[in-house]
Amino acid sequence: MGKKKITLELEEYPDSSQLPDADRRLLTEARAALDLAYAPYSGFRVGVAALTASGAVVRGGNLENAAYPMCLCGERSALAAAASQYPEDPVVAMAITVKHRAKTIAEPAGPCGACRQVISETEDRFKQPIRIILQGETGPVVCVNTVKDLLPLYFTGAFL
Ligand code: THU
Repeated sequence: MGKKKITLELEEYPDSSQLPDADRRLLTEARAALDLAYAPYSGFRVGVAALTASGAVVRGGNLENAAYPMCLCGERSALAAAASQYPEDPVVAMAITVKHRAKTIAEPAGPCGACRQVISETEDRFKQPIRIILQGETGPVVCVNTVKDLLPLYFTGAFL
């Protein structure tokens, strides 16, 4: 049996004040996007801001449904909005933050597996890596330069 080590590189900042300016601005947009969330069932809001190559910022929030499996995550909500409003303008970065109705989340909440897959497809479609900036309501910020750093052994259209 051979063993293979996969190294993933995450940037970690103790708080948002230490972030590069562009990342901090996008995170502020993500915080504003929390107001777009419709999360009456979980009370867990997710705010996302997607930056396009030409500098447009598209916001999205999670959209829940009484039929629970129909819930749409904030990440996919923002990517769908960007693909609709700026179909020729690839997303280059996404900031993601969360807010719980009953407690303070003080660590980054990583995107769910389904959203990682969708972000990965978006990267492949536009041949453009997407920088991801993650922060809870407060606390440290984690950044990666591509979603592939959050998704080892990812599935891609190249298999099909
Ligand atoms: N949620 C997201 O918006 N993004 C994720 O990556 C994980 C979960 C939403 C879905 C649901 O509205 C709420 O968070 C609780 O799962």
